[in-house]
Amino acid sequence: MGGYEIIGNRDKAIAIVEIEKGENSKKIAEDIMNKHKNVKTVLKKMSERKGVIRTRSYRIICGNKDTKVVHIEYGYRLFLDPRKVYFSPREGTERQRLASLVQKGEKIMLMFAGIGPIAVAIAKKQPDVEIVAIEINQDAVKYMKKNIEINKLQGKIKAVLGDVKKEAKKYSKEFDRIIMPLPHKSELFLDEALDCIKPNGWIHLYVIRGEEEIQEVAQDIAKKINAKKFFIKKVLPYAPRVNKYCIDLML
Ligand SMILES: C[S@@+](CC[C@H](N)C(=O)[O-])C[C@H]1O[C@@H](n2cnc3c(N)ncnc32)[C@H](O)[C@@H]1O
Repeated sequence: MGGYEIIGNRDKAIAIVEIEKGENSKKIAEDIMNKHKNVKTVLKKMSERKGVIRTRSYRIICGNKDTKVVHIEYGYRLFLDPRKVYFSPREGTERQRLASLVQKGEKIMLMFAGIGPIAVAIAKKQPDVEIVAIEINQDAVKYMKKNIEINKLQGKIKAVLGDVKKEAKKYSKEFDRIIMPLPHKSELFLDEALDCIKPNGWIHLYVIRGEEEIQEVAQDIAKKINAKKFFIKKVLPYAPRVNKYCIDLML
């Protein structure tokens, strides 16, 4: 088995599992459900993440057909259906890192917001913020609105359904921080970020790159956008010697 991750809480959770050819799916699912009594559904990954909305295909190999779940991390709740939206429980630590950088009174643009986990993590840690969270997947925006509500963050996070290319045009030089968590394509939206960021603001750009090239890639991006300084943070491994990184750039 290629490993599994669990999304949910003590009462109801879903296991997402990678099963290799020739392995007994049913047996693997039953073992997981016996070990984790809160797991009510086991989903088998049937594809890589794909398309604009970055979801993948799954097959239910055991349990309940209702795959909606409330994931709990760092004291906040995230309602979602992994079959309809992107969500990674492994990025909770990175969400906390971002949240800890935010200062009182900041105005933040969260591009590619998904179900809003980054926005919720920030607003929970630093209540004096205003976040504009833009997302193109209608289902994800529906869950983000619910997540704003269940975490009592109304008035702090504005969920916007739309394409960042279009929505970002409505703002000019008014954000202290812009977060760009679309690692395969973030760089294509840097012009929009530059139009929206204030002088001395921070851009957090996510990329997937090889270990040997990341320093040079970050340097080139910093030069291209005239950043005063930059830091590289390794977020998660992606493939052998390839990682997801966040490049923190100060304008
Ligand atoms: C890698 S996911 C990250 C989601 C979320 N930030 C999180 O951490 O869970 C990227 C998200 O960007 C959205 N997306 C892709 N292209 C977009 C665009 N042009 N405008 C707005 N959202 C977009 C996808 O639907 C997806 O939900």
